[in-house]
Amino acid sequence: MNGPLDDFREILRLTRGCLERLAADGAGRIPRRAAALAADARRRDIPSMEELARAVSRCRKCALWETRSKTVFGAGAVPAALVLVGEAPGAEEDRQGVPFVGRAGALLTKMLAAIGLDRDAVYITNILKCRPPGNRDPRPEEVGHCEPYLLGQLGHLRPRLILALGRHAAQTLLQTTRPIGALRGRFHDYRGIKIIPTFHPAYLLRNPDEKRRAWEDLKKVRAFLDGAA
Ligand code: URA
Repeated sequence: MNGPLDDFREILRLTRGCLERLAADGAGRIPRRAAALAADARRRDIPSMEELARAVSRCRKCALWETRSKTVFGAGAVPAALVLVGEAPGAEEDRQGVPFVGRAGALLTKMLAAIGLDRDAVYITNILKCRPPGNRDPRPEEVGHCEPYLLGQLGHLRPRLILALGRHAAQTLLQTTRPIGALRGRFHDYRGIKIIPTFHPAYLLRNPDEKRRAWEDLKKVRAFLDGAA
């Protein structure tokens, strides 16, 4: 039988779920919260998002600056309960300077919509902020130079959960060589932030049968944001 304490716990759980859903749906952009987080980031000596974006746009720490058209910093809500991290910009992203705007991006938008999320309610970025020529795999030194930008972004975004898109994002963040099949669908830790890897939308375009397993992962994301996981 439920006592008053159990009822109170249940109310707290439901309230938390409601608040997380609001945050994931964009209420996290309430200016006062953003201002408070920006002040906190200043206290922790993290450059502002604008400063980080400017630093990325001028970055020449690796050779990718020579072949890029535009840097791709990231886009979406600041702060954000959910942050999506992909691998690196592709051709269309390099042209527009915005993450996930090509065919894979269109699928990603649909995947988010399937769990009731608008792109604007989350933050989307990549491990690398510049396109590797011919979409080759990111190199360790490129990842090493770029990761501080992601860490700076996360300092402002303060996500509850990171959705790592694909093998490269998952292996880079989790510092592992385990295959995506073993990493996906499970909650891991990235510097104190919960992270769940899933398949990259470009992979899902090539392997539509895997969409069923990606859907299982997305349901876990929704449940987590609802406070139920
Ligand atoms: N693939 C990625 O990993 N990131 C993008 O921004 C686009 C395609």
